[in-house]
Amino acid sequence: MEKGSESTDVVIKLHRTKKFSVFIATCSSILTSQQSSSSDQQLKRKRIEKSPSSPSEEFTSRKESKWLSDQLAAATNGIQNINLSSQIVKDVLEEHLVKSRQLRAEQLQDSLLKGAMSVDTVIEKLGNLAREEVLHFDTNLFQLKSAFSSMLFENRDEDYIKQYIATAGSEIKDLKLEHLHEWVHGDKGQKKDRAEKLAFLSPMLNQERRAIFQRCYDNFVLSFILPSVEATLPITSRTGEHFYQAFPCTRVIRPGEFSLGPHSDCNYGFQAGNVNFYLPLVTIGGSNSLAIESTPGREDWHFLVLKYGEIQRFWGAMCTHFTPENTTNETRVSFDFRVIPGIVFERKDRYSETPGYYLRATLGSDGTWTRHDPIPNPDWRCGFPFVK
Ligand SMILES: [Fe+2]
Repeated sequence: MEKGSESTDVVIKLHRTKKFSVFIATCSSILTSQQSSSSDQQLKRKRIEKSPSSPSEEFTSRKESKWLSDQLAAATNGIQNINLSSQIVKDVLEEHLVKSRQLRAEQLQDSLLKGAMSVDTVIEKLGNLAREEVLHFDTNLFQLKSAFSSMLFENRDEDYIKQYIATAGSEIKDLKLEHLHEWVHGDKGQKKDRAEKLAFLSPMLNQERRAIFQRCYDNFVLSFILPSVEATLPITSRTGEHFYQAFPCTRVIRPGEFSLGPHSDCNYGFQAGNVNFYLPLVTIGGSNSLAIESTPGREDWHFLVLKYGEIQRFWGAMCTHFTPENTTNETRVSFDFRVIPGIVFERKDRYSETPGYYLRATLGSDGTWTRHDPIPNPDWRCGFPFVK
């Protein structure tokens, strides 16, 4: 889409409507103070930089590709620590952002017409929960990495998996997941071309194997995430009832792969009350991470810089986010899932109006959270490998 096109005009008109302007202003005001902490995070961990002295043909040849990941890699020569503030990156992003902005505005209008809660109301109810924040959890108490590795690696017969396990010494939980691509690298990981990745993740499709991880995840959400959500909400929004994603989206992104173009989750039909949690099982940053904006429309891009034991909360329903090509030499393994506080939950979209995606939990008088829905088999809404 070219600048100044009809679609761009639509976006501008929508931005100029009073409600949307107030909404953007409200978000910016609430989240301004978050900027310094994001910068601190960026500085917190320096990654080894791959910085070729001259443009490499490997990357420059992708300049004409229609994909953002190719265009970004070409524009930055495959650098790991992409400077998201640079003009060259902004220029590459713009074409893709035009579409994302337009879709977000259209989705907001559409959901309002269907009687959904306005975004102004949602942001008021969410309060500080709409601000990004890094939470820290006890990896001895919540052994998500160990449960994930057990689900995927225990009792497998494939030679390449046995070789991979051998690198861990005696304990599967000690496997270096960031080295996964050294053993699983035969396919491209793109749609219709990821048979090997599907075979590798196939234990997730087995209910018995999946249960190892599912129990751990469910306990983590009920014991750690929901108490944090409740405590962060404004007092008037604390209803003691929340809805959380039944099974997290799983990302296994090897060097050379990418997963997401710029979008807000509402572009895909998620309701505005969704708050995202991003949990890596390896250290992530730069091109091996997710780039987000701090508030809808602000476009102050920054990469999540996290290690295992940290989890990033951000308002993914409304804040645009994307991933470039992973140009590092490490595989990213991460989970992300969504929580909707009861105060803003509505059954008005394809994720919530049919069972299976969100589970309902309530707070008891003893201070613990209890799930009320049975755990379903994950469906296409949880992404790969549940949808091929
Ligand atoms: Fe998303």
